[in-house]
Amino acid sequence: NMKGAIFDLDGVIVDTAKYHYLAWASLADELGFTFTEEDNERLKGVSRMRSLDILLEVGGLQFEEAEKLAMAEKKNRLYVEYISKLEESELLPGVKEYLTGLRTRGIGIALGSASKNAEFILNKLNITDLFDAVVDGNKVSLAKPDPEVFLIAGQELGLQPDECVVFEDAEAGVQAGKAAGMKVVGIGKPEVLKEADMVVKGLYELLS
Ligand code: BG6
Ligand code: MG
Repeated sequence: NMKGAIFDLDGVIVDTAKYHYLAWASLADELGFTFTEEDNERLKGVSRMRSLDILLEVGGLQFEEAEKLAMAEKKNRLYVEYISKLEESELLPGVKEYLTGLRTRGIGIALGSASKNAEFILNKLNITDLFDAVVDGNKVSLAKPDPEVFLIAGQELGLQPDECVVFEDAEAGVQAGKAAGMKVVGIGKPEVLKEADMVVKGLYELLS
């Protein structure tokens, strides 16, 4: 009875975490400390400015708001440089097939992402046309685990929350989906995504 499917972007559609990591690590490097891949786990699903706060906390550094904005912008320029080379072949396994299958069954498809680069990434991956609605970091003001992003996505699909299923790889995203009153499919490890209704390793597991 699912009428709408709402997908997170980073970690569900494409593995951009590695590019976020390279860009943040390079900023940390300039600031004189090491930002590890383990630290990077804490940034998944988290907004750009909140990510910077976590990074600076790891480095034990404090800055004025204006300096922080400049740093976030610098990180984003580097990140955009990396993702401008993204190609369709970097879609995670099963994504294209799963979304196309949903479409054939008449199920509404939306994106629900914290990223301000979402449209750029969808274009690079050649999948913009598969989405009936795109709700991203430019449209929402409250970050996951707040349900805002998924509630707006449901509205844009013209559906009630209980008709929608959210697909998420981040703990905060799973919490946001549940808080929106939606069913949540976790993508990743069951130990991490405890609150999800079911957990799979990737969308490829859902192909029939
Ligand atoms: C989320 C990522 O999708 O988007 C986070 O999981 C990222 O790691 C956030 O910080 C914001 O992305 P952007 O592209 O607007 O900096
Ligand atoms: Mg994600």
